[in-house]
Amino acid sequence: MSDVRIHLNVNGEDYHLAVPPQRMLVDVLRDDLQLTGTKRSCDIGVCGACTVLLDGRTVSSCLLLAARADGARLTTIEGLATEGHLHPVQAAFLDCWGFQCGFCTPGMVLTTVELLDRDPEPSRESIVDALMGNLCRCTGYRKIIEAIEKAADSYRSPRRTP
Ligand code: FES
Ligand code: FES
Repeated sequence: MSDVRIHLNVNGEDYHLAVPPQRMLVDVLRDDLQLTGTKRSCDIGVCGACTVLLDGRTVSSCLLLAARADGARLTTIEGLATEGHLHPVQAAFLDCWGFQCGFCTPGMVLTTVELLDRDPEPSRESIVDALMGNLCRCTGYRKIIEAIEKAADSYRSPRRTP
């Protein structure tokens, strides 16, 4: 089958690519664009390691054909920091030690960004709900939840930008 031509905007950069119709978005991001912050683990949409934002909403990039993302605006973990400053969610994860090995962290952070963009004052229950699709084998989640609550505080603060 012949390649499909697609256009992706990833972290503000435009890419025009020719991809096999069966190629998954995670492969395009990691292997074609070298954006290896997006992790691959279960490959069946269960762990959340491959989470990216597509037009502002979380998607599992291991489940999405790259061709289906044609025309989309994507954000990966590499696209969050600006001008040398961590995004407030990244800073909160760092401050609270919301990670150990870090493998799940890009997906956790992007899930948090989406959560706080739609609900800047999430309850503990909303945070737990939002994390249902992101698995962490290291932290026990307590520090991750603390980090998300700290990030929510910084979203509400007038001095949101670090
Ligand atoms: S690698 Fe995509 S959800 Fe696990
Ligand atoms: S920090 Fe290791 S899997 Fe979450």
